[in-house]
Amino acid sequence: MAMIVIESLVKRFGAFTAVDDVSFAVERGTVLGFLGPNGAGKSTTMKMLTGFLAPTAGRVRVCGFDVETRPLEARRRIGYLPEGAPTYPDMTPAGFLGFAAAARGLRGAAARTAIDRAVDLVELKPVLHQPIETLSKGFKRRVGLAQAILHDPDVLVLDEPTDGLDPNQKHQVRALIRSMATEKAIVISTHILEEVEAVCTRAIVIGHGRILADGEPTGHGWRLGPHMAAPGRLDDVFRSITLGAGAPAREVLPC
Ligand SMILES: Nc1ncnc2c1ncn2[C@@H]1O[C@H](COP(=O)(O)OP(=O)(O)O)[C@@H](O)[C@H]1O
Ligand SMILES: [Mg+2]
Repeated sequence: MAMIVIESLVKRFGAFTAVDDVSFAVERGTVLGFLGPNGAGKSTTMKMLTGFLAPTAGRVRVCGFDVETRPLEARRRIGYLPEGAPTYPDMTPAGFLGFAAAARGLRGAAARTAIDRAVDLVELKPVLHQPIETLSKGFKRRVGLAQAILHDPDVLVLDEPTDGLDPNQKHQVRALIRSMATEKAIVISTHILEEVEAVCTRAIVIGHGRILADGEPTGHGWRLGPHMAAPGRLDDVFRSITLGAGAPAREVLPC
């Protein structure tokens, strides 16, 4: 059974269509890279996938539960790292994770075990008792990541998980994502092609709210769906989709 099933998802903001008829399913063991330039509709899709934003049309099921009609069952199975910084700047990571554990229904020893595990995995210990607003961007990101994996969910939705991290931290977070992959269905968004190649078992290229390519790595590059020339080169496809000639091959600039 697919752990995430998205069917004909649409989001309009007034007359503007941010997500335009997106459908896909994700199985356990997949790390799906949601790849597209800024403004492509990645975050909006992830907000609908996690139940934080109501779709204009379409539906999402997580582990068989409709995110809109069975929100508690669905959200229990989801860990979500939203875009940007965590929202409680005055709290310390210890306080914030305690709060997040309580919100997940974890108490006492179970909460402590879950927090210790998450803190170890994202290496947050040195800053546990320092207000979040005083942390570097990398540590702020890792606080969000610890919160997302706290309850060891089946489905992880990580919106630009390595944004703001230095190269060593990026490497570490990518290794962590890979290590969790066999147990879970993981969706990460990124505008960095190299990130998809480093951690993902599947890539969906999105532009202007639509899926433009969907593929998996093979021994000879990426196979990018029936309508693409195969075997496709992900960087060529991504470049031609997102920017014209002369664009950097490995990273797409904001549009
Ligand atoms: N609340 C909103 N109101 C109006 N437009 C929005 C809103 N949220 C997102 N958008 C627009 O939808 C498009 C997709 O945004 P987003 O999903 O954040 O893209 P991405 O995460 O791929 O950078 C952008 O053009 C953005 O400006
Ligand atoms: Mg975004």
